[in-house]
Amino acid sequence: MSGILSDLSRDALSALAQVTDEAGLAGWHREMLGRKGSLTEALKGLAELDADARRARGRELNALKQELEVAFESRQAAIQSELLDSRLLAESIDVSLPGRKPAVGSLHPITSMIREVSEIFAHLGFQTVEGPEVELAEYSFDMLNIPKDHPARDVWDTIFIDTDQVEITLRPHTSPMQVRTMLQQEPPVRVVVPGRTYRYEAQDATHEWHFHQIEGLAIDRAITMTDLKGTLAEFARQMFGAERKVRFRCDFFPFVEPGVDMSIDCPFCGGRGCRTCKNSGWIELLGAGMVHPNVLANVGYDADAYTGWAFGMGVERLVMLKYNVQDIRQFYGNDLRFLSQFGRARL
Ligand code: DAH
Repeated sequence: MSGILSDLSRDALSALAQVTDEAGLAGWHREMLGRKGSLTEALKGLAELDADARRARGRELNALKQELEVAFESRQAAIQSELLDSRLLAESIDVSLPGRKPAVGSLHPITSMIREVSEIFAHLGFQTVEGPEVELAEYSFDMLNIPKDHPARDVWDTIFIDTDQVEITLRPHTSPMQVRTMLQQEPPVRVVVPGRTYRYEAQDATHEWHFHQIEGLAIDRAITMTDLKGTLAEFARQMFGAERKVRFRCDFFPFVEPGVDMSIDCPFCGGRGCRTCKNSGWIELLGAGMVHPNVLANVGYDADAYTGWAFGMGVERLVMLKYNVQDIRQFYGNDLRFLSQFGRARL
């Protein structure tokens, strides 16, 4: 090979060795083997040579062209496989890494508490039933011995959603389900009724316009106040500790006679007095009483043959007492930092 051609070959091969990517390859190909490339230029020079020299030079140029093409293809293959390797490396996953656990939600503390209470009462023979949140005032009040102009009707700052034809409320308590249950079945009755309740109320640390209650009702022959006390004391001990003392005091609710409220000795100070029990040693848990004969009569039960007792309690209050929650509004702030403390939910 003549000097010029061997220089050309050397330069071309060393330039090819420097190329590292597809764009470089394309550039090199254009410069060396393209229509205006070095080799094409060299071929143009053939026309000036005589026949013998042209043939000899032509052969050399062809050999050079072939050499460069072979070199190009092998460099191209090398670069492509390098690129593939580095892409595979970048996209590879380490299967030996520990997995990432998916965030698992948990029940809202109010839902958990409702289930816990329902379960305790289930073991005591009570069925759990639910009822409507939009409720006739007749069931929220009248059938429960709270007549239209009775001052007791003011106790519940009720949200009325219709007063034109029929008075319709967002139920201010779960007690109307006493009426619905008794209208639907004959005694014996043993039910607990968890559910949402609503009151026209300013919010603060202990008041919400929307909250939950659990109602209880037991009707049968020869049921007495003893059954009420025994059952509710058992509930309080299962919920707040076997050592709990309970205290019943007279209270008034139009749908029971006599009416009581039940307190437990403060689980935080054991009854000695602290901030939570406002130094009284006692914490009020619920209202209860013997179902008023008027209520039994209203639903068509024979008040001479049957007696019964009922109770109602706030679910938020139970959770607040059990877990020392200071502000009822936290239940509805939708803040996972608060809610995840009660279950396995992760942030
Ligand atoms: N419904 C009452 C309230 O919301 C609570 C209550 C008291 C329910 C006595 C009862 C009961 O069933 O017997 O304040």
